[in-house]
Amino acid sequence: MFKITVVDVYVCKICGEAYIGEKMPTHCPFCGAHKKYLVKARDYDDTGAWEVDLNEKDRINAEKALEVEISNTIFYKCASQKTPSLEGQKLFKILSKVENEHASVWKKILKLEKIELPKYDACASEYIPNLEESHSREERAINFYKQAAVESANPRVREIFQAFVEVETDHLQLSEKRL
Ligand SMILES: [Fe+2]
Ligand SMILES: [Fe+2]
Repeated sequence: MFKITVVDVYVCKICGEAYIGEKMPTHCPFCGAHKKYLVKARDYDDTGAWEVDLNEKDRINAEKALEVEISNTIFYKCASQKTPSLEGQKLFKILSKVENEHASVWKKILKLEKIELPKYDACASEYIPNLEESHSREERAINFYKQAAVESANPRVREIFQAFVEVETDHLQLSEKRL
């Protein structure tokens, strides 16, 4: 027998992606933003969300953030392919997807066309060294994003940096629990 469920559409104000489910998820399934950034689609108008006037500092920080996210996307992709642990493969694969979504947010903010992911195979072929590298990459990203959030005078840019500080802190917790 089929069970009919009552579903709704939710949208993440950070990445703009929609989610269908019975309940508001605790985190955006795409960019990992916390629940406070999620809204019912019917209550949200995202016109202008990607029309952001960047001053020079914001542009420099957004470009650097894009680089960080691309670098982490390809590191995690490599780690998901080389880590022998099955759990590690799943963990690094979803981290790669989330970081790729973050890269896509910066791409849209910067109004760039397409992101080319460079080839990367310099990750380790064991779980622990990849967790250690994950930890230091997330720590670097968090420190930079905290600084960039303080430096930004633009509410949308500041909110994205703040949201991603929280997401990368979740990622830090994942490696810390396993090291
Ligand atoms: Fe999101
Ligand atoms: Fe990220």
